[in-house]
Amino acid sequence: MTKVFPATSMPDRDWWVALWPDPLDVVQLLGVIPEMSVLDLCCGDGYFTAPLAKLVGGKVYALDLDPVMIERAKEEVARLNTSVLKWICADAQDAPQHITEPVDYVLMANTFHGVPDKLGLVEAVRVMLRPNGLFGVVNWRPLPREQTIVLNQPRGPATDLRMSPEALKAVVGPIGFHTIRIQELPPYHYAAIFQRSV
Ligand SMILES: C[S@@+](CC[C@H](N)C(=O)[O-])C[C@H]1O[C@@H](n2cnc3c(N)ncnc32)[C@H](O)[C@@H]1O
Repeated sequence: MTKVFPATSMPDRDWWVALWPDPLDVVQLLGVIPEMSVLDLCCGDGYFTAPLAKLVGGKVYALDLDPVMIERAKEEVARLNTSVLKWICADAQDAPQHITEPVDYVLMANTFHGVPDKLGLVEAVRVMLRPNGLFGVVNWRPLPREQTIVLNQPRGPATDLRMSPEALKAVVGPIGFHTIRIQELPPYHYAAIFQRSV
């Protein structure tokens, strides 16, 4: 049964742009390079999908459960004059059914905190990655929500949903990943970059 992950609605564009003024710089900081194929898991309205597609010359799969998000992401990708390999409107847990060739990189930005079955999701990511492929997770830092102010309002998921890098590593590592690095993404985020252990 398809199910929206709790606390994962797409933020309004005004404060998302204020928080992430340069999304291409972000995807480069995550270690995505032009040679890679990428799955943008829970792509939302395409705010990161479009610069990703631009960077890797269209070798992007983009998945979201919400058809409205997929339509908005398509517009964003067209606006940046680029393309993706495949649009997938599906539950992230079912992604392996739609990705028939292993990818070099799976990105999950601003969504992992809400996934109820985190182990199951990481296992799904593992099977879609080629050996030594990368899994980048962008998360809100575990700060109290009232301290993560953007455009004069507290933003992001509830405080108790936020994960520290250590808590994230403890979930992802045992599924068959090692940590490459933790990337600071100021003011309120970090990314953990994991590598599939063969
Ligand atoms: C907070 S938004 C983040 C979007 C994008 N990654 C970003 O950082 O700009 C989370 C997205 O996850 C999608 N989503 C929620 N539950 C999902 C599920 N079970 N499977 C696939 N996508 C889901 C929502 O529709 C939403 O677009």
